[in-house]
Formats: sequence, C-alpha cells, structure tokens
Amino acid sequence: MSTTTGDVAAATTASSPGDHPGTGHPLHIACIMDGNGRWAARRGLPRTAGHTEGEENLARIVRLAVQRDIGWLTVFGFSTENWVRPRTEVRHILGLHERLFGRINELNDLDVRVQWIGRPFDSPSARTPKYVQRAIRKAIADTADNTGMLLTVAFDYGGRNELMSAVRAVRAADQPITPATIDEHLYLTELPPVDVLVRTSGELRVSNFLLWQSAGSKIHFTDTAWPDFDAHDLDAAIALVR
Ligand code: IPE
Ligand code: IPE
Ligand code: MG
Repeated sequence: MSTTTGDVAAATTASSPGDHPGTGHPLHIACIMDGNGRWAARRGLPRTAGHTEGEENLARIVRLAVQRDIGWLTVFGFSTENWVRPRTEVRHILGLHERLFGRINELNDLDVRVQWIGRPFDSPSARTPKYVQRAIRKAIADTADNTGMLLTVAFDYGGRNELMSAVRAVRAADQPITPATIDEHLYLTELPPVDVLVRTSGELRVSNFLLWQSAGSKIHFTDTAWPDFDAHDLDAAIALVR
C-alpha cells in the first residue's frame, strides 16, 4: 500500500471524487473516532451524551474535510467488537447512525456521496437492525449522484473479517491469492489506500480498522477526544502528507 499521495492519484481515475482542479491530489483520511465516553465522563455526563456530541462533531468534520478537498473520508462508527457494550449504549449508537445516515440534505448541499463499509447484512454473524440497514441504503441511494467527497461510514466493521471474507471469495473464484485479487474482493473496492489514519483520545492502537487499506499509511495520534476534534487537528493530520 502506498504512503505517498502520488501513488494514490495513480491508482484512481481523473474523475475521482475530490479531484477538484488545481487542488493537488485527493487524499484518503480515515478516522478512528475514539474517546466519546471519556469526553462525557469528564463533564459528569452519561456516555451516551458523548456519542451524541461525537455524531454532531462528525457533521462538522465532514464540512471541514470538503473545504480542504479531501477525496475520501472514512470513519469508524461501530466495530464488530462493540456489540458487547451495554444494551442501552448500543441502542443509542444505533439511533445516532440512523441520524447520521439521515443527514441527506446536508450531504447533498456539500456534494458528498455516502458509502458504508461493514459485514454484509446477510452474513450469519451480522446484527445490524433493519431500521439502520434502511437508513444506510437510503443515504447511499439519495447521495449516489454527488461527485464530491466520498464519506464512508464503517459500521459493524472489522478488518480481520473483511480480510477473511476477501480471501474466501478469492479462493471460491479459484483465483491466485495476490494483493490485486484481495483488493478486488474487499467490502468496498472503490476505497483507495489510506493516506493518513487518525486516532483520537490518546490510544495508540489500530483496533481492527482498515488493516489492508492502511498498510502503508501515515498515522496521526492525538490526545483530543473525538467530540473536540477540530480544524486544527484535521490540518495537523493533513500536513503529514500534503
Ligand atoms: C468511540 O468512543 C465511539 C465508539 C467506539 C462507538 P468510545 O465509546 O470508545 O469512548 P471511550 O474510549 O470509552 O472514551
Ligand atoms: C474503536 O474504538 C472503534 C470505534 C471507534 C468505532 P474502541 O474504543 O471500540 O476501541 P478499543 O476497544 O479501545 O480498541
Ligand atoms: Mg474507546
């Protein structure tokens, strides 16, 4: 995988999302949005309040990313490991994803196309409820004609599951196992390599996020909790590659 924007540009076409004239290479920034719970705890609030604020901050960061001509913004909303959290917290996070995927007018105003990455809804271990599935499908359909940034939300996502399913699909197609054939069978084949992986809130872990796609990416770790992640932090991440 590449560490340079040049390689990313070479891997994409002239009409790639975010490839606006005169603004340099479109970048792929991927964020592990961590620290919502601690953000809330520091304020004496329930963890759910931190998630609510985190979702609102994501909307702000999407707008900033568009202003900075980011080509692809991929965010970790909920992992395959997160289902073990308390039921009320999981239910709250599910509702926030319904809200996030429901921000269609805002996304259309920004010319942002939405995608989702995660375990296929029909896979035996997938648990995404129908109302979230519907919101995801609607957001993808209702923003499909936008040509600006691609916002991909990882929900019920795990990098190891993605790689296992890709390898299985390569074998089922009786193809040789190579980087190119694995690329072809990832959950979302239109994602280019990650240029900068961001993790907020002081944890120095990758937590099973985009393991294949970020093999060569720069990493920006920050102590800022996700709800406080702002333009200054985003620019520091971009500065690693631009
Ligand atoms: C990230 O914040 C959001 C999700 C994982 C869904 P956390 O909920 O992990 O917040 P901390 O790490 O407990 O502070
Ligand atoms: C990673 O954060 C997953 C998301 C941001 C959705 P976690 O808080 O779940 O990760 P760990 O458990 O600290 O590795
Ligand atoms: Mg966490």
